[in-house]
Amino acid sequence: MPDARKSKPPAEKAPAKSAEATAEKPAEATAQKSVEKFYITTPIYYVNARPHIGHAYTTIVCDAIARRKRMLGCDTWFLTGTDEHGQKIERSAQAAGVTPLALVDEVSAVYRALWDRMGITYDDFIRTTEARHQRGAQEIFRRMRANGAVYKGTYTGQYCVFDELYVDAAEAGAPCPVCGRPTETVREENYFFKLSAFEDKLLKLYAEQPGFIRPETRRNEVVSFVRSGLRDLSVSRSTFKWGVPVPDDPGHVIYVWLDALSNYATAVGFGSPLAKDQKRYERYWPADLHMIGKEIVRFHCVYWPAFLMAAGLPLPRSIHAHGWLLFEENKMSKSRGNIVRAETILDVLGNDALRYFLLREIVLGQDGSFSFDALVQRYNADLANDLGNLASRTLTMIQKYFQGNLPYPSKTAAEPSEQALAEQGQRTIREFGALFDDYQFSRALETAWGLVGAVNKYLVENQPWAIAENADEAARARLATILFTAAEALRVVCLLAHPVIPESTARIWQQLGLGDIAKADLKNLTWGGLTLGAKLGAIEGVFPRAEKSEIERMQKMEEERNAPAAASEAPAQPEAKPAAPAALPATGVAGGDGKIGIEDFAKVEMRVGQVKTAEKVKGADKLLRLEVDIGSEVRQVVAGIAEAYKPETLVGRKVIVVVNLAPRKLRGIESNGMIVAASVGEKGSPVLAGFLEDVPVGSRLK
Ligand code: MSP
Repeated sequence: MPDARKSKPPAEKAPAKSAEATAEKPAEATAQKSVEKFYITTPIYYVNARPHIGHAYTTIVCDAIARRKRMLGCDTWFLTGTDEHGQKIERSAQAAGVTPLALVDEVSAVYRALWDRMGITYDDFIRTTEARHQRGAQEIFRRMRANGAVYKGTYTGQYCVFDELYVDAAEAGAPCPVCGRPTETVREENYFFKLSAFEDKLLKLYAEQPGFIRPETRRNEVVSFVRSGLRDLSVSRSTFKWGVPVPDDPGHVIYVWLDALSNYATAVGFGSPLAKDQKRYERYWPADLHMIGKEIVRFHCVYWPAFLMAAGLPLPRSIHAHGWLLFEENKMSKSRGNIVRAETILDVLGNDALRYFLLREIVLGQDGSFSFDALVQRYNADLANDLGNLASRTLTMIQKYFQGNLPYPSKTAAEPSEQALAEQGQRTIREFGALFDDYQFSRALETAWGLVGAVNKYLVENQPWAIAENADEAARARLATILFTAAEALRVVCLLAHPVIPESTARIWQQLGLGDIAKADLKNLTWGGLTLGAKLGAIEGVFPRAEKSEIERMQKMEEERNAPAAASEAPAQPEAKPAAPAALPATGVAGGDGKIGIEDFAKVEMRVGQVKTAEKVKGADKLLRLEVDIGSEVRQVVAGIAEAYKPETLVGRKVIVVVNLAPRKLRGIESNGMIVAASVGEKGSPVLAGFLEDVPVGSRLK
């Protein structure tokens, strides 16, 4: 966990369409106080970048949990949203020449539209720029101050704008311990929070509620962090405006993390004067589960409970930190340029494939790698083959041999194999529930697929298709019993897996003639509950097999989104209008107009290079792999110029290379630099930059 202690103190419900609409819940649900409630949250996502499957991962995890809770009859409230304030946003907007509000409106809508497309069943989507949030965040601040936990002082020190983090470092521009970017020196009169006064209370909380922080490893980290001493924390900023004004002191805005964390309470009505909001707050607060990524543990497990204690508000029941989704061995993130967008996977394989992969492949709490190969392999093996085959075989045989009427099983025709399956089915229901409710999704799904495998094996061993050739009564009874048993297993698996793969299980459910899966009762699920005499619905394949070409298709889609024109290192749209100033030290910023100082320009090292070899990158229409002599060495660079230049025309040509970019991989090939080109016309066709005079290889551009 990054160390900022010493930051010098002084220190199945369609998603609703609007914030107003989402804040409503059917009256019966909120009125039923006796029904257990469950309030779950995702982090609110920054709007300085578009969503990728890392963000989708957290949201899917929460969605699966919320869906199961609802199926179990729990009065569930699922919150997600966007984190829209801070200097980073103010600067990004400035650099892009738009207002901060225009910027946050656009990106927040992208998040929301993606969650809608993915069928995320959030009950509310909070934006920190909404009045209801600002009012509530101010009320939390007011209470903290009224209770004597906030005081005014002067802060001089380093601040990382990217992570919105105070950093203890002596030198100006020292790297941020989280992201490595240079910190900025800030000197401001601020409000400070007496975090140091909460050390003992926090340690007592962790000791008394061992489940407050999960998993155990994160809990241990937090405990030792707090034990080693806490310093007071600056909770306001006065050098920029894009934030929630401090109550009664509007020259200050509330520190963006205090603002952001407050969302969990404000979204359910904290601070609202309206009775219906107060009722909702009383019903749902405190949150039962904050699901977060591991990099924001300290904010959630140290600051947030301390803020709440200071404000005299109840604490969340539990915080669960999951690991990172890695791509090409690194944390997937915009700044590393190694992101995969959910849309690509949805376009090609659909929602359930992404959901199943993430929950089956990654052990919650640990890091997990994403690759298109692994995604397709998992999809084909578990969904197309195992579950898909079980469904299509069973349903087709019932259609064919019993005209689509679910046959009645017969006791006299039963054999020990049915009893064994019944026992495994019952065990699966029990074990799946225990594992899932302990957030061990991967193991839970493994257990359910154990049942799928057993039933497929049972069908192969019992060969109902061979029995069907015999028309006598005993054979018919045996056939009916086998198909009924397979259909029952299908029903059980569908109900268990529904929170994970909602679309396909709903379709199989209908094909089984069971109607709307949303009305099914998971709470009382036991083996043997299949409705006798049901009439099957229309049968159709649910998981078409993915061909190998789909892998290339997805890779290509991502590449095209990620590698515009000539830049091998350029970010995708709309990040093409980057928030570059966010990472610059204060000394380099010439003014508030988004311009940079000469010191910053000097950081970019450009040299004259000469192309030695050039070839197309297999399977990528836009990419060329070049070997470029830059004087001191020959560099491999992958450039998105294949549509404009034939490789053979480039050999011997002099080009301009940005030589001090961090390496990155494209199509598995490491690229060490960027070829400079103009981006021309609507399509941004690349035109290579060059010189009219002859220039020696290796010359530096200044
Ligand atoms: N705005 C803050 C959170 C404030 S909550 C009061 C923030 N936002 S974020 O956009 O950076 O999103 C962080 C969350 O997105 C992570 O905590 C995690 O849940 C998810 N992820 C972003 N990238 C991820 C991966 N590469 N892998 C897994 N989850 C990732 O921090």
